[in-house]
This record gives sequence, structure tokens and C-alpha cells, in this order.
Amino acid sequence: MDNIVMARALFGTSMAFHIIFATLGVGVPFMVVFAEILYHVKKNKHYAILARRWTKGFAIILGVAIPSGTLVGVMLSLLFPGFMEIVGKVIAVPFQVELWAFMLEALFMSIYVYAADRLSPVLRIVSVFFVALGASASAVLITDAHAWMNTPRGFDLVNGEVTNVDPIAAIFSPSLWTTSLHVLSSAYMTGAFIIVSLAAYKLLKRNKTKEEMEYHARSLLLGLVVGGALSLFTALNGHATAQMLHKYQPEKLAAAEGLFETTDHAPLAVFGRANPDTGEIEGGIEIPWALSFLAGNSFDTVVKGLNEFPEELWPPLYIHTLFNIMVMIGMALIGLAFGTIAWRYILKRTLPRWWLWVLTSAGALSLIGIETGWIFSCTGRQPWTIYHMQLTKDAATKSENLGPLFVLFLGIYIVLLFLTAFVLRFYFKRHPVSKDLSPNTPVLEQDEGVQSNG
Ligand code: HEM
Repeated sequence: MDNIVMARALFGTSMAFHIIFATLGVGVPFMVVFAEILYHVKKNKHYAILARRWTKGFAIILGVAIPSGTLVGVMLSLLFPGFMEIVGKVIAVPFQVELWAFMLEALFMSIYVYAADRLSPVLRIVSVFFVALGASASAVLITDAHAWMNTPRGFDLVNGEVTNVDPIAAIFSPSLWTTSLHVLSSAYMTGAFIIVSLAAYKLLKRNKTKEEMEYHARSLLLGLVVGGALSLFTALNGHATAQMLHKYQPEKLAAAEGLFETTDHAPLAVFGRANPDTGEIEGGIEIPWALSFLAGNSFDTVVKGLNEFPEELWPPLYIHTLFNIMVMIGMALIGLAFGTIAWRYILKRTLPRWWLWVLTSAGALSLIGIETGWIFSCTGRQPWTIYHMQLTKDAATKSENLGPLFVLFLGIYIVLLFLTAFVLRFYFKRHPVSKDLSPNTPVLEQDEGVQSNG
């Protein structure tokens, strides 16, 4: 394999590993904010216990997210020096500000964790809000660089030299807000659906006390409400993201939909495989006119097909499958969340065990949505690293023999995944929720009186 493929494989694997923890690092504190607010409003100790236990899980996740994020930064410099040269001159600011966002998160995390007993409920909400804000700000700042790679602004490349640098134009590239919203909402929904999975799994276990069942049911409902609302928002915002592709990266949208000929009333292809020889989608379902509507809110919208572009500049056609997986997961999770809320909490019917088993898959499905979304966006930009400005072959390292490094890091990531799962399991086995729910355990030192479940 050539060095470009190996550099992409090594960096892609590192990102695929890091993004799991980075996403949960944004999504879980968001859920803790809700639990703290509900504790304050309802004075029900279950919410305080949920907030405390999720924070413990979050701390373990953060312990992997920080070093793996640092590693991604180092890899980017070593594997794509040509890219970093441009980044350093044009869009270094978000990376620098991200350190401040991280400091905000770390500072308030220490206050929230170590001074929780001494803070009033409102100050606890404020401190965990700033933890979530710091995490979300970090995500937006890093996404800023990704958005700029898709819609680069704020510089010219003349004979390979960077000129006319305008950092503000680079920071506020056209896709910044749409992409940031999609990244944030999909991270929040993933945090919520991970909670749904855990709660559903716990509800499936037999020999639980009535109070334990109530505790997990509360967690399930909170996860479903937040996850349902945010998956709906992610889909709506994904629609805006697709319109942005139509405007700024038409060949990515054409490859995502396997559209070869430019046309109005363009169909939306679901599943199937784009065949470059026949110029058609094989084995898929076509929804007439839907792509034109998706791209421009009208059936008359002309959508550019791949044949408008030289074939060597086409993104890989398999991104059609990645796009389909991401969208299908979004739709399935909206249906699952609202279907469960309606069945259990509006119709007041019991959830059968098979349904709980389906709910246990929600977190993993959401994470697959995150992975496919990122791979779709970044692979769909190929062969460019900076869209229409720098080819990946010009950005990548020239060094050979990356193969052994790839195998080594792949091994490390697999081991780390198992190790993290083991540490999380070990911690929560040693600290079962039954201990926290025991009447002898004060919720918080200053709240010894709050024991009601009302
Ligand atoms: C339900 C309908 C959805 C639509 C129409 C949609 C649309 C899109 C589009 C068009 C992109 C490419 C943006 C670009 O390359 O500039 C994208 C990227 C992405 N999507 Fe989705 N998406 C949907 C659901 C989801 C879900 C459910 C998740 C995760 C749980 C998700 C996570 C992501 C991520 C992480 C990216 C990469 C970041 C970005 O470039 O925006 N998406 N999505």
C-alpha cells in the first residue's frame, strides 16, 4: 500500500478511536446538567445519584479522551505535514482557544466533583453547566477546523505558498455553524442514548428492588426524552447540512446519492450501490424528486451529478452506503425514542423484554452514526484534504513503512477499548447503585434530609 493510504488509515483509526470518547465527553456532561436541574426542581434523590454516577463514568471517559486527543494532534503533524503548514498559517487560532475551553471544563469539573458537598444546588448546576459548556466549546473549536477543510476561506495558495491570509474569514467559514450544530446535537443525542442503553440493560436484570427499578426507569425516561428531541433536531439539522453540500460541495452530495447526471426532480436513492459503469444505483429504492427537494426545498432544484466533475476528482462511491447508514440510524432512533415514550408513558403499557433488548442497542447505534458521519464527511472530501485547495497526496508525509505503526496502534486501540470497558465495569460493580440508594447513604452531606422519591 502506498504511503498516502497508510497515513490515512493510521490517522483514521486514531480518529475513530478518539471520537468515541470525545463524543461521550460532550454528551454525558450534557445529561448530568439535566439530572442536576431535575434534582433541584423535583427534590428526588434519584436524580442526584444519576448525576453523581454519570459524572464518575464521565471522569473515566475523559481520562481516555484527553491522551487520545493529544495523540491525534501529534499524528496530524507527523502524517500530514503539508496540511499542518497551511493550518499553522491560516487557522491556528481555534486550536489555541480550545486549550482555554479545556481549562474551563477542567476547572469546573474539579469544583463540581470535589466541592459538590459544599455547593448549593444552584451552584452545582452552574458548575456542571460550565463543564458541559467547556466540553461543547472544545468540540465547536475543533469542528471549526473540520468545517474550514470542507469550505476553506481566508487564504490563497500561489505556487504552493500561502498568501492573503484572513484568519477571521477562515474561522467563520460558510459551514461553521451548520456543521458545529450537527456535531453537537449528534454528540448530545449519543450521550442520551448511551444512558438509554444502560438503563434498559439494568431494567432487564432480575432481582432488583422496587426502588432500583424506579431509579432505572427515571434514567430511561430522561435518556429517551433528551435522545428523542435531539435525534429529531439532528435529522432537521442534517437536512440543512445536506443543503450546504448542495451549495458548497456538490460532488460529495452527488456521490452520497449516487447521482451521475445533473437533473431537476432528482430522486433520492436509499440503499443499493452506485455503479460508475452503468451510471446508476443498483439494488436500491428510489424516492422520486426527493433529492431535489432535500437539496433546495423545491422539486425543480437542479442537483449536479458526478459527470460534471473529472472522474479522478470523484469522492469514493461507497460514501453512499455510509450516508444511508447515518440517516437510517437517525430515523430509527427517532422512531424508537418516541415510540417507547408513547407506549410506556402515554399509553401506560408495560415494555416487553424484547423491546428493552432493542433499547439496549440505542447507544451503540448512535455511536455507529457518529463514526459513519465522520467517515462520510472526511472520505467524501477526497481526494482533497482542503477542498479544492490541497490534494491529500500533497498534504501527506512522504515517509514509507507506516504499516508496522498502523498495526501497532490498531492493537493499542483495541486493548485500550477493552481496558476502558473493564475499568468502567469494575468501578460500577464495586459501587453498585443499591449502595447509593440505601437510606444510610446521604445523597450529599448537606442534603441528609432529602430522601424522598416523590
Ligand atoms: C437523520 C438524518 C441525517 C442527515 C440528513 C445527516 C446529514 C449529514 C451530512 C449531509 C453530513 C456531511 C456534512 C459535510 O460533509 O460537510 C453529515 C455529517 C455528519 N453526521 Fe449526519 N445526518 C443525519 C443524521 C446523523 C446522525 C443520527 C448522526 C449521529 C448519531 C450524525 C452524525 C454526523 C457526524 C458526526 C458528521 C460529521 C461531521 C460533519 O461534517 O457534519 N448524523 N450528516
